[in-house]
Amino acid sequence: MPKPLRKAILPVAGLGTRFLPATKAVPKEMLTVVDRPVVQHVVDEARAAGIEHIVFVTGRNKAVIEDHFDRQFELEKTLSDRGKTKELEQLDRDTPKAGTTSFTRQQLPLGLGHAVWCARDLIDDEPFALLLPDMLHLPKNGGKGCLAEMVEVYNRTGGNVISVYEVPEDQTNQYGIVGTAPTHGGVNEIVQMVEKPALGTAPTNLAISGRYILQPTIFDLLARQDRGAGGEIQLTDSMLKLMERERFFSVTFDGPVYDCGSKIGFLMANVAYALSRPDIAPEFRAALGEMLQGGNVD
Ligand code: G1P
Repeated sequence: MPKPLRKAILPVAGLGTRFLPATKAVPKEMLTVVDRPVVQHVVDEARAAGIEHIVFVTGRNKAVIEDHFDRQFELEKTLSDRGKTKELEQLDRDTPKAGTTSFTRQQLPLGLGHAVWCARDLIDDEPFALLLPDMLHLPKNGGKGCLAEMVEVYNRTGGNVISVYEVPEDQTNQYGIVGTAPTHGGVNEIVQMVEKPALGTAPTNLAISGRYILQPTIFDLLARQDRGAGGEIQLTDSMLKLMERERFFSVTFDGPVYDCGSKIGFLMANVAYALSRPDIAPEFRAALGEMLQGGNVD
């Protein structure tokens, strides 16, 4: 059995320029998909996979994320005085226990590799999960979350595990792209990796979907701070170097993936998550059907 996975990094320092003006004062990770902030959905996924401690890599103007994962005494007191037990229980379930979160800052926007490197002291010498909050992975009915599926593979293979999904050819320049080969154990091994290849040059259309299980050896490579695609310190470049010494496996998540970094992906996530919620799905499905057929929209 490989060393157990206990910690996760969530990089939440990005500026969210694609969502202005919504993200002028509100971090993009706090935009809601139905009634939960995007970042809460991702924390739910991490906790469902058995993660015990989450390291948030934040930046300026992101303090509200820290508040969101803290207790809110006045609110709890008011809910309790009014007998709102259901709401109180929900708040309690959603709030991480004391001492199970850490916050550190990425002081300059130097890229994903740099954000991950900023968490090195808090992760120390342990394998860790990395979850990019832009990407939402909606489990199919009763299915497991993406990270939970990856942990199952990791417990068999050890090494490093990355989730991938198929994207249209004309979007391969927006993602890290991998090439895979089958292994004897029925798991695919990653044999190629390139960050945001120019259109027409991608080896496949398998994109990295923003979920990783990595060994701490990656930190030594990130420490070199070499610049890659877009002039940024790219995680993919360090993973490629690590692939010379360590194995990387891929997991294709059994469910839809929504890139909430794009407006269309974010809107689709809202529709899909609403339709997956038993408490609102029937009414929403009917209203949506009527809207699409009935001339409320052009
Ligand atoms: C990052 C990674 C990329 C991955 C993507 C998923 O890119 O560098 O490999 O495919 O996340 O969202 P970013 O979206 O930060 O540009």
